[in-house]
Amino acid sequence: MGSQVWCFIAIFILITTGESRKTTDKTCHPNDLKGLISFKAAIRSDDSGRLEKWIGYGCCKWEGISCNNTTGRVTQINLPGFFTSSDDSPVQTSMNGHLSPSITLLSSLEVIDLSGLTGLTGNIPPSIGFRLPKLRKLSLFGNKLEGRLPESIGKLFNLEVMYLHENSFSSTLPESLGNLKSLRFLDLHSNGYTGVVPDCIANLTNLETLNLQNNFLSHIPANIGDLQALKELDLSNNSLRGRIPSSITKLKSISVIYLNNNQLEGEIPQPFSSDQMPALRFLRLHDNLLVGRIPDSLGYLTSLERVSLANNKLEGSIPTSLGNLRSLTELYINGNQLSGQIPSSLGQLSRLLILNISNNMIREPLPQEMASLINLQTLDLSFNRLNLFSIPYWLLKLPSLSQIHLASCRIQGELTEFLQSTPSSLQVIDFSDNNLTGNIPALIGSLTELYLLNLAGNSLIGQIPSTITNLVNLGVLDLRSNKLEGSLHRVFEIQTRFGGGSLTYIDFSDNRFSTGIEQIGTGMQQGIQYLNLSHNFLKGRIHTAIGTLGSMQSLDLSYNNIESELPPSLGNATSLERLKLQKNNFTGKIPNEFLKLKELEELDLSNNMLIGEIPFGKPLIDFPKSSYLQNRGLCGKPLGPCPL
Ligand SMILES: *[C@@H]1O[C@H](CO)[C@@H](O)[C@H](O)[C@H]1NC(C)=O
Ligand SMILES: *[C@@H]1O[C@H](CO)[C@@H](O)[C@H](O)[C@H]1NC(C)=O
Ligand SMILES: *[C@@H]1O[C@H](CO)[C@@H](O)[C@H](O)[C@H]1NC(C)=O
Ligand SMILES: *[C@@H]1O[C@H](CO)[C@@H](O)[C@H](O)[C@H]1NC(C)=O
Ligand SMILES: *[C@@H]1O[C@H](CO)[C@@H](O)[C@H](O)[C@H]1NC(C)=O
Ligand SMILES: *[C@@H]1O[C@H](CO)[C@@H](O)[C@H](O)[C@H]1NC(C)=O
Ligand SMILES: *[C@@H]1O[C@H](CO)[C@@H](O)[C@H](O)[C@H]1NC(C)=O
Ligand SMILES: *[C@@H]1O[C@H](CO)[C@@H](O)[C@H](O)[C@H]1NC(C)=O
Ligand SMILES: *[C@@H]1O[C@H](CO)[C@@H](O)[C@H](O)[C@H]1NC(C)=O
Repeated sequence: MGSQVWCFIAIFILITTGESRKTTDKTCHPNDLKGLISFKAAIRSDDSGRLEKWIGYGCCKWEGISCNNTTGRVTQINLPGFFTSSDDSPVQTSMNGHLSPSITLLSSLEVIDLSGLTGLTGNIPPSIGFRLPKLRKLSLFGNKLEGRLPESIGKLFNLEVMYLHENSFSSTLPESLGNLKSLRFLDLHSNGYTGVVPDCIANLTNLETLNLQNNFLSHIPANIGDLQALKELDLSNNSLRGRIPSSITKLKSISVIYLNNNQLEGEIPQPFSSDQMPALRFLRLHDNLLVGRIPDSLGYLTSLERVSLANNKLEGSIPTSLGNLRSLTELYINGNQLSGQIPSSLGQLSRLLILNISNNMIREPLPQEMASLINLQTLDLSFNRLNLFSIPYWLLKLPSLSQIHLASCRIQGELTEFLQSTPSSLQVIDFSDNNLTGNIPALIGSLTELYLLNLAGNSLIGQIPSTITNLVNLGVLDLRSNKLEGSLHRVFEIQTRFGGGSLTYIDFSDNRFSTGIEQIGTGMQQGIQYLNLSHNFLKGRIHTAIGTLGSMQSLDLSYNNIESELPPSLGNATSLERLKLQKNNFTGKIPNEFLKLKELEELDLSNNMLIGEIPFGKPLIDFPKSSYLQNRGLCGKPLGPCPL
C-alpha cells in the first residue's frame, strides 16, 4: 500500500475523531440532560460506580450513554447490572432506587437497557409510547418494577425487543400489544400478569420468542398459529384452561413449545403431515389434564429431541410411530393411563438418554429390541402392570445405563445373578416393592459409583454385607420393609469419598435389626438428614455422639427395645424437625437441652419409661399431650401439673 494511502487514512482518523470530540464535548440537549440528571437523582445507590462519574453537561460522554453523532441526541442508555468491565472481566452490580419517569424526556432513545439491576422499583412510565417513538429495545428484566404494561406501549412501532421478565408487573396485558409490528422478542416471564393472552398477539408476524412463563394467564388465542416467525413459545406454569388450539400445528418456524404446568384439557392437537412444525425440537406438555391417545402423527415430528407428556390423563397404547423420532434424547410419558405393551420400535431410538414410562398400566413383555438403546442412561419402568419375573438380561448389557428404576415390577428371585452381570458404573438402582429374596450379596460392594440403592419392600434376609463400606459415593440407602437382621454398624462405617459424608438418607425401618445402635454418630456420617430405624428389634444405648449429627432433620427410632436414657447431647442436633422415639424403653428425664431443638415440628416420646417434669418452654410445651402419654411418670405442660 502506498504511503499516500496511509497518510490519507491517518488524516481521516484525525478528522473523524476530532469531529466526534467536538459534538460529544459540548453540552448535550437540555431535555436529555434533564432526563438523565433526574434518572440519577432517583437512584439511591449504584455499586457499579458508573453514575457517580456522570458529572458536568456533556452527557454523551457519560458511561452507559450513547448519542447520535449528527444530532447530538441521546439514543441509548446501557446500564445493565451485569456487564463487562473495562479490564474485560464480567461484573455483577446492582442499583437501588426508583425508575424516574423523566427518562421519557430523552425523546430520541432507541435503546433502554436497565436489566438485572435487582433493586430498581417503580413503573413503566404510562407515556412511554407517546414520548419515545424511536425505541427499538426495552430491557428492564431482573428488577423490582411493578404496575401494568401501559396501553401506550402499542405506539412503539419500532420496538423489536421487550424484556420485562423477573419483575413484579401485574394486571392484564393491553390489546395494543398487537400493534408492535416490529417486535421479535417478547419476554414477560416470572411476573404476576393475569387475564388472557390477548388474541391480538397473533398479529405480531415478526415475533420469534414469546415467553410468558410463570404468570397467571388463563387462555391461549385460537389463532396462535398465525405467528409464522415464532421459534420459541413458553406459556408454562400459568393458569391456562381449555384445549390447546389446533392452529398450533401451523407454526412453521417453531422449535420450542412449553405448555407444561397448566390446566389444559382435551386431546393433543395432531400434526397432519411431516410439513407441519418441521423444526420442533422441544415439546413439554406435562402436568396438564390432557386426555385421549398420544397421536400417531407425533411420529411425523422427526426433529423432536425432548418430549414430555408426563402427568396427564393420556390413555391407549404407546404409538409405534414414536420409533420414527430418531433424534429423540429424552422421552417422559410417565404418570398417565397408558396401557398395552412397549412397542418394539422404541428400540430404534438409538440417541435416547432418558426414558420414563413409570406410573402407567403397561404390561410385559418388554421388547428385546430395547437392547439397542446403546445410549440410554436412565430407564424408569416403575409402577406399571409389568410381571417381569426376572430382571431382563439385555437390560444389564446396556453400555451407558447409570439409573435403573424397576419399582413394583413383580421381580422375583435373588440379586446375585443381576449383580454378576451389571455394569459397575450404575449410580441409581431402585428395585423397591418387588419380591427379591435371599441375601444382599457381597458383590454389591463392587458398584462403587452407586449413589442411590433402594431395595425397600422386598423379602431380603440375612445381614448387611461388610462390602457395603466400599460404596463411597452412597447418598441414599433405603432397605425399608425387608427381613434383614443383625447389626447396622457397617453402614455407619462407610467412609464416603469426601470425608464429611454424602450419605444423607438411611431408611432401615421395618426389619429385624437388633444391634449397632450405639454406632449412630460415631462414624463419618455427619451429613445424614434422614435416619429411620423404626420397627426393628434394636437394643442397647445411644451414644452421646448422636448430638454431632448437626444436619439431621428426621430421626425415627420408634418401635424398638432401646433401654437408654435420652442423651442430653441430642439437644445439639438443632436441625431436627421430626423426632420419634415412641414405643421403646427410654428411661430417666427429658433433658433440658431438648429446649434447644427450635426447629422441631413433630415429637413423639410416648410409650416409654420417662419420668419427671417436661422441660418448660418452646417447642416442648406446644406439642399435644399424645406426644408424652404412656410413660412412667411425666408431668408438666402440656400434661397435668407435677406433684409438689
Ligand atoms: C443520526 O441521526 C440522523 C438524523 O436523525 C439519522 O439520519 C442518522 O441515521 C442517525 N445515525 C445513526 C447512526 O443512527
Ligand atoms: C460516534 O462517535 C463515537 C465517538 O464519540 C464513535 O465511537 C462512534 O463510532 C461514532 N458513531 C458513528 C455512527 O459515527
Ligand atoms: C390484530 O388482531 C385483532 C384481533 O385478532 C384483529 O381484530 C385486528 O384486525 C388485527 N389488526 C391488524 C392490524 O392486523
Ligand atoms: C410458577 O409460577 C408462580 C407464579 O409466578 C411461581 O411463584 C412459582 O414459583 C412457579 N413455579 C415454578 C415451578 O416455576
Ligand atoms: C419418572 O417419573 C416419576 C413420576 O411419574 C418420577 O417420580 C420419577 O422420579 C421419574 N424418574 C426419573 C428417573 O426421573
Ligand atoms: C414372594 O416370593 C415368595 C417365594 O417365591 C412367595 O412365597 C411370596 O408369596 C411372594 N410374595 C409376594 C408379595 O409376592
Ligand atoms: C419410618 O418408617 C416407618 C415404617 O416404614 C414409617 O411408618 C414412618 O413414617 C417413618 N418415619 C418417618 C419420620 O418418616
Ligand atoms: C421394657 O422393659 C420392660 C421391663 O424391663 C419389659 O417388660 C418390656 O417388654 C420392655 N418393652 C420394650 C418395648 O422393650
Ligand atoms: C453441644 O455442643 C457444644 C459445642 O460443640 C459442646 O460444648 C457441648 O458439650 C455439647 N452438649 C452436649 C450435651 O453434648
